[in-house]
Amino acid sequence: MLADVSVIGLGRVGLPLALSFAERGLRVLGIDNDPVRLDAVRAGQMPFQETGTDELLARLHPTGLLQLSDRVQDAAAADHIVITLGTPSFSHIEIDMSGIRSVVDDLIPHLRPGHALTLRSTIAPGTTEFVAGYVAKHNGFTIGEDLFVAHCPERIAAGHFLEEISTLPCIVGGVGESSGEVVAGLFEVFGAQIVQTTPVQAELAKIWTNIIRYTQFALPNLLMMDCDQYGANVFEVIDLINRDYPRGGIARPGFTAGTCLRKDFTFSEERSSAPGMLLAVSRVNETVPHFLVEGVKRRLGTLSGRKVAVLGLAFKADTDDERDSLAHKLVRLLERELADVAIHDPHVATPTQPLDDAVTGAEVVFVATNHSAFCSPQTLERIGECASPECLVVDPWDCFGAAQVFAYASELAILSGTL
Ligand SMILES: NC(=O)c1ccc[n+]([C@@H]2O[C@H](COP(=O)([O-])OP(=O)(O)OC[C@H]3O[C@@H](n4cnc5c(N)ncnc54)[C@H](O)[C@@H]3O)[C@@H](O)[C@H]2O)c1
Repeated sequence: MLADVSVIGLGRVGLPLALSFAERGLRVLGIDNDPVRLDAVRAGQMPFQETGTDELLARLHPTGLLQLSDRVQDAAAADHIVITLGTPSFSHIEIDMSGIRSVVDDLIPHLRPGHALTLRSTIAPGTTEFVAGYVAKHNGFTIGEDLFVAHCPERIAAGHFLEEISTLPCIVGGVGESSGEVVAGLFEVFGAQIVQTTPVQAELAKIWTNIIRYTQFALPNLLMMDCDQYGANVFEVIDLINRDYPRGGIARPGFTAGTCLRKDFTFSEERSSAPGMLLAVSRVNETVPHFLVEGVKRRLGTLSGRKVAVLGLAFKADTDDERDSLAHKLVRLLERELADVAIHDPHVATPTQPLDDAVTGAEVVFVATNHSAFCSPQTLERIGECASPECLVVDPWDCFGAAQVFAYASELAILSGTL
């Protein structure tokens, strides 16, 4: 099998990356241990939504530039091996590196001088040096001279992969003398600016890119909960903070989670100098579903046996990615209240009900994801027509433009100008 680059882990990062290399004429070997995923790609089907990739896969299919395998060892056919495995965290505030360890163990007997191993996964500070040391310990290579190891983090937002791969600066943190240069030689095919740094700085830059967002969104979420205590309107307070003020800029509330934001702060907390600060940020974001359920109970009383509709299961707008979504947590909390939960999401793979079925007869409607499809007067109209006459709508995103976290559907229609 001849290949210029092997990509191990054909997930939401690995598969678009493999396709992007192939689009630029590189022979790519994509490796994954999930037979269902491999079968889908072989059949020309994207296993998830990512803008433009259906068409790209269809175009590349006949070229043979993307080959597939389920054997990690096959990766050694290419000089460049890029690891794009998932890196979850343990509940011990620690990165779970078992995936990376297992793949590196499989690769070690097949590595030869000239190979370049790129860690594209998000990893805790120190992981690149660990992998380099681990490989050197087992096969005696001098990293940076005979074998190259670097971290080249992925900072692309879901849904924007094909556009951002060639525009975002590409950070490369190489171990030893030449790893950075060798790995830059692969990624320069995308034409983006290459920024060379140390491995640990590359790791920190990626993690802190996510920490900034996780923290930025915790502030309006905390403000939303504080406002509720004081009987204040969070959207009006946010407007007062930001309006014509050069140092404003607070974001708006919402469900802040997803696989990256939720776990990456633990990679920093592993060795934090201020343990607790980011845990508090996480606690704020994680409390939002509970706050909203309690807010409904204060207004309506028990939810037992009452129909509650949840709009959205994805962790963010217009994606089908449900991993670590707070919408699932909301559903679990509602089920623990013995509510009859109905769910509608037009994007996700999990089967859900059509909008009308989900909201018909509902006494409460939660907007859990700010999908564009929901943020329209038509959705509010359907709620008004199908839900119970006194339906309480919970809209922390202000999808309906009425600037109310909790409001009855009839009030919302007036406030948002649809009546
Ligand atoms: N999803 C994003 O938007 C995003 C953005 C930036 C960074 N990241 C980081 O990139 C990394 C990958 O994320 P993802 O969302 O693509 O993960 P993912 O879980 O979607 O993909 C991982 C893939 O690796 C495969 N796999 C697991 N173990 C394997 C093994 N032993 N051999 C071969 N294949 C194996 C899985 O089947 C899966 O297809 C993570 O570290 C993540 O934090 C993700």
